[in-house]
Amino acid sequence: MPFKRPLSSHTSDDESLFSHDQHSKRVCSGSPWNIGEEKPLLVYILQAKIHPETMSELAALVENYTIERVDSQRNQGPGVVSKLNLELTGDVKKANIIVTAIKMRQRLERHIDWRIAKTKAIVTPSWLRDSVKSGQPLSCGNYVAVHNLEDEALQHCPDTVQDISSSSSIHLPSPEKESSWQTEPDEPIDATEAESLSCNAKYSCLRPSPLVCPNQGLVKEIDIIRRSRHIEGEDRSMLSYSRAISVIKAYPHVITEHNLHDLHELPFLGEKVLSMIEEFLKTGRITEAQKFLADPRFQSLSAFITIHGIGPHSARRLYDLGLRTLEELERYYEVIPGLSDEETMSLLEAESSANTEAAVEKSIKIGLALRHDLSQTIPCEEVEEINRTVMRELSHVQKGCKNVIAGGYRRGKPQSNDVDIVITHTDWKIGSQKVKGLCRKLVQRLHEQGFVTHVMHLSGFHEHNVLRTRHWDSLEKALTVFVWPHNPSRQRIYRRVDLIFAAPEVFWTAVVGWTGSTMFQRDLRLWAKQQKGMKFDSSGISRRHDSRLYYPRTERDVFKVLGLLYVHPTLRNADA
Ligand code: CTP
Ligand code: MN
Ligand code: MN
Repeated sequence: MPFKRPLSSHTSDDESLFSHDQHSKRVCSGSPWNIGEEKPLLVYILQAKIHPETMSELAALVENYTIERVDSQRNQGPGVVSKLNLELTGDVKKANIIVTAIKMRQRLERHIDWRIAKTKAIVTPSWLRDSVKSGQPLSCGNYVAVHNLEDEALQHCPDTVQDISSSSSIHLPSPEKESSWQTEPDEPIDATEAESLSCNAKYSCLRPSPLVCPNQGLVKEIDIIRRSRHIEGEDRSMLSYSRAISVIKAYPHVITEHNLHDLHELPFLGEKVLSMIEEFLKTGRITEAQKFLADPRFQSLSAFITIHGIGPHSARRLYDLGLRTLEELERYYEVIPGLSDEETMSLLEAESSANTEAAVEKSIKIGLALRHDLSQTIPCEEVEEINRTVMRELSHVQKGCKNVIAGGYRRGKPQSNDVDIVITHTDWKIGSQKVKGLCRKLVQRLHEQGFVTHVMHLSGFHEHNVLRTRHWDSLEKALTVFVWPHNPSRQRIYRRVDLIFAAPEVFWTAVVGWTGSTMFQRDLRLWAKQQKGMKFDSSGISRRHDSRLYYPRTERDVFKVLGLLYVHPTLRNADA
């Protein structure tokens, strides 16, 4: 991610999504944001009447557009430059274009001085979506937001200010498309339902947490400190930062000097974090985070834990052996980059050894050898394609199965680090028997067909806990490496694919568990335990005092059983 945009310390209107002040130039210098010479088009998004979810989408549109634009300029050289150079601003006076869902003059005047409004092009959110899609600022005629300001909108429309070029057409995921990605589409977000969630609740499973929040730059900065605690094994401190981050993720306003005191109302924001926020508001940075970024130990350990199988503990051990870079790790593990002939499929036979040290070492070797591929994110279209392929192969092994793509994809991430597929059988009565042992059979089949090359980890094949009923052992999972078999039209790139099998009774708890995010999950468990005397995890829900098991029939039922309001998957992004 490029450098975050600093938050304004002097904006008079805290309703816009992002602010732009005198610090931004300094903070952004040297960052990819500065590529391109033309002056950015300053976009002011008026938050009133826009749902937080949409707000995030619009902000992401500007941010992602800038990133993609920069990338495309890099790749294509200076010849191909888009004429759309967007930047969010929190200062309505400086804005070149105002995006709003408000239609009435009276309502608009509550937020923007009418004299200023008359000097601006005020348009609907569709203008932003369509302009980004076409890579140029579109004419405002079809997008006038407030009828009384139609002439002004046309007069001040940036399409007349800037030279229109059709040289760049940049693909961005659009919300319309999102719904068609899913095999089983999620229902659309229900605004009233989302509004009944509360941003200052103590548990993140009661708060609405969008993928990109209005204070995303701040979140990213605090996340550096969280990561430093993680790699150093300081778990309590890490958790405090995770909690602070998840609270900020759900805060729907841009934090400024003017509303800073409101943060005292929010849980988990202690003095230390509050002072960091204050520093970020003033300078666009947090000194401690910057210190870590420049620290060679932080850099080495951070790189090490990107390898599957290397956790913070192993990373520190390797560092203590004098290893500093992934290349040194390759030599240490005697790995040839790009080549992995580890006989990991034998894990299928020797499943009882799946968690032994030898098995972990094997998965580290695979992770290291394939790291250049595995570190590349997977676009949602490919996530869906992999899912379709997996389900097609599964139908040859067992008919009547159904599935949900969980993980970050389901939370709305346009790019994922892996594919998480939760699978069950549609027959409520005999489904449990049908899925038993199916994970292994599917992996075998995918291997035979050339799709799965490695298995990093297999689990859930044993009736290991006699006190639990069979339902508790109903999650079988395989963490695999997937590749498109040789096909000249397609790049051969290794992808991580997690396959999770659940009996029908626990399918939806598994889906909720594997949808995450991690903090959302953690708080679901905590809520169940502290507030409901229940136990929740991916493999089921039970009541503590008598071990009664619950079998939710839908995802909504999972929330109902736990006494919670439903939270849409795209509002479960409670981590950075
Ligand atoms: N999870 C779990 N048990 C595991 C691993 C993951 O229950 N052994 C859950 C976590 O709650 C996590 C979700 O599954 O939120 C997905 O995990 P992961 O694939 O690691 O992360 P994503 O959120 O999908 O993001 P990405 O893959 O893009 O990094
Ligand atoms: Mn994932
Ligand atoms: Mn995963």
